[in-house]
Amino acid sequence: MRIFDKKDKMVTLIRTNYHLLPVINRFGIRLGFKDKTIEEICDQHKISSDFFLAIVNTFHNEDYFPEEELLSFSPHLIVRYLKRTHQYYINYILPKMESLLEQLNNDCSPNCKELKIIDAFYKRYKDELLNHINDEETRVFPYVVELINNPRSMDPNFTITEFEKEHSNVEIQLEDLKNLIIKYIEPVYDENICNEFLITLFRFEADIKDHARIEDAILVPLAIAIEDKYRG
Ligand SMILES: [Fe+2]
Ligand SMILES: [Fe+2]
Repeated sequence: MRIFDKKDKMVTLIRTNYHLLPVINRFGIRLGFKDKTIEEICDQHKISSDFFLAIVNTFHNEDYFPEEELLSFSPHLIVRYLKRTHQYYINYILPKMESLLEQLNNDCSPNCKELKIIDAFYKRYKDELLNHINDEETRVFPYVVELINNPRSMDPNFTITEFEKEHSNVEIQLEDLKNLIIKYIEPVYDENICNEFLITLFRFEADIKDHARIEDAILVPLAIAIEDKYRG
């Protein structure tokens, strides 16, 4: 699978992988690129093209993970990107999934027991995900930012590994939700809406795995490096 570089046209990026659309939006980049290259568009938005490419290539290619390069970027940049990703999940993905689930439920009759189970399962997943995001936004990210700004005054009683909870729970629940639909839904549903719901789940799963990979392999090691350096 290809790796994009600065001289590639932005239009090529999107034509190669349209799933990158929300990723570029997280950088404040919108359509209307004309024939500009990735470098030109990044310069125009005052974005580091190296950082942009590291994120975009990591998302595009599962086998690509420029760990050392990502570790060299400012943690502020990484936290900003991660927060924008959270906003995308909260403001767009979750409401979209809810609206599709509601349509599925409304179009189903007479009692659609399995859909009610799927609905309850989705709600549990959503609560778990929102708790996880809230924990990161209120505890993990502020801790990392404080660590960078004032490493000498870090609280000796805390470490990043106590803060950042494992991602496996959230991932397993999403996998279960997908399986529940694929394996057990009764065939009395609106197929177009159900497909749309499932496709949204698959895309979201790919996005959130990429997100968790950046948190686990970049943000956490960055924080550990600062903790180790200043705790001696
Ligand atoms: Fe996160
Ligand atoms: Fe996370």
